[in-house]
Amino acid sequence: MIVLINWDSKLSENVKAVPPSGIRKFFDIAQTMKGVISLGVGEPDYAAPDKVIESCIHSLEKKETSYTSNWGLLELRREIAKTFATRYQLKYRAENEILITVGVSEAINTIMQALLNPGDEVLIPDPAYLAYPACVKLASGIPVLVPTECENEFKLTVEELEAAVTDKTKILLIGYPNNPTGTVMDKESLKKIAVFAEKHDLIVISDEIYCDLTYDDNHTCFASLPNMKERTIVLNGFSKSYAMTGLRIGYACGPAEVMQSVCKVHQYSMLCAPVTGQYGAITALRDCKEEVEAMYNEYHTRREIVYNAIIGMGLPVFKPKGAFYIFPDISSTGLSDEEFCDKLLHEEQVAVVPGSCFGKQGLDHVRISYASSRDNLKEAMNRMARFVKKYQG
Ligand SMILES: Cc1ncc(COP(=O)(O)O)c(C=O)c1O
Repeated sequence: MIVLINWDSKLSENVKAVPPSGIRKFFDIAQTMKGVISLGVGEPDYAAPDKVIESCIHSLEKKETSYTSNWGLLELRREIAKTFATRYQLKYRAENEILITVGVSEAINTIMQALLNPGDEVLIPDPAYLAYPACVKLASGIPVLVPTECENEFKLTVEELEAAVTDKTKILLIGYPNNPTGTVMDKESLKKIAVFAEKHDLIVISDEIYCDLTYDDNHTCFASLPNMKERTIVLNGFSKSYAMTGLRIGYACGPAEVMQSVCKVHQYSMLCAPVTGQYGAITALRDCKEEVEAMYNEYHTRREIVYNAIIGMGLPVFKPKGAFYIFPDISSTGLSDEEFCDKLLHEEQVAVVPGSCFGKQGLDHVRISYASSRDNLKEAMNRMARFVKKYQG
C-alpha cells in the first residue's frame, strides 16, 4: 500500500515563508529555449584565471584532499588579513577573526543563524540581493525592508532607516556595490549610516563581494569608518572579481567574540570550505592582479555599451557605479516587470530578471547583467530596442 505523506504539513514554517528564487525561474525557462541570450544570472562569463586553475590542479596532484581547519587554511586567512591591512589599514587576526566560508552565500546564512533569535529585526535596503531577506527568515528573524528610491540612485538614507528602526532591530544588512541596481554609496553617506548604526547599537553586516568592481569612486570598506570595526562583519569572496563562482570560496571578517559563534554554526553545518578552492583563492590574492584588472576593464566598456543602448531606447536609467548590473525603468512600455521579462524572452529570446524579485521598490524595473560578451550584449540590446519600441507604441 502506498502511503501518501502530506509534506506541506511536515515542512518548516520558516522554509514555507521563503519564496523560490525569481532569478532561477527565468533562467530555467531560458535554458529550455533555443537562441536565447541570457543576461539573467549574475555570474561572470569568464573562467577563473589560469594561475588559479593551475594551483587547484597542483593541490590535487599533491593529494591535498582533506578537511582543512574549520576556520579555513591559515595561509589563506593570512593572505586575506594582509589584503585588509594594505587596502584599508584594517587589522584582522588571521587566527580568530577571519572565517573562510562556502561562498558569501554561506556566510550570510551562517551569520544569521549565529546572531538571530525569533522576532529579531534586520534592516535591509529595498531593492537588494534576494538571499538577504530569505536567510533572515530561515533564521526566524524578521526582514524589515527599507525603501530606496530610483530618483536618488537607490541610495540608502538615514531618514528611511530612522523610519524603519524599532527596539527589536538587531542588524543592518547592506551590500554595496549593490545587486541589482549597481548603486555605490559614497564615503560621506556611509559615514552617516555608521553614526545611525552606533546610535541604535546595531550590528552591521556589509557584503562587499563587488568591491573590486567600482567604476567611478574607490570602494569604502564599511569597517574602516570611525568606530565601525567593532560592530561590523565584512563579507567578501572570490566568485565575482576572480570569476571563481563554482569554487565556492568566501569569507567573513569580524570581532573575535562574534566570530567564535559564527564559526560554531559553520563547523556543525559545513565543517570547512572546499580545500581545492581555498588553494585557488591563495593564488588569486597573491598573483592575479592583472587578470582581475583585465576583467574589470572589460566590464567597464560593457557598461558603456549597455547604458548607451538603454538611453537610446528612451528608458529612464541611471548609470551604474559598480558591480555588473543595470536597472532600467520599463514602465513606459505599459508592461509590468514580470510581463516584460516573459514577453522579451518569448518574443526576442533575451532573458533578463524582473526587478520585483529584489523587493517592492524594484517593481517596474528589470535587472540586466552585463557579464556577457560585447557581441552578445550588442545583439541583445538590438532585440530589446525593437521590443521596447513595439510596446511603447
Ligand atoms: C550581493 C551578492 N552577495 C553574495 C552573492 C553570492 O556569492 P557567492 O558565490 O560568494 O556565494 C551574490 C551572488 O550573486 C551577490 O550578488
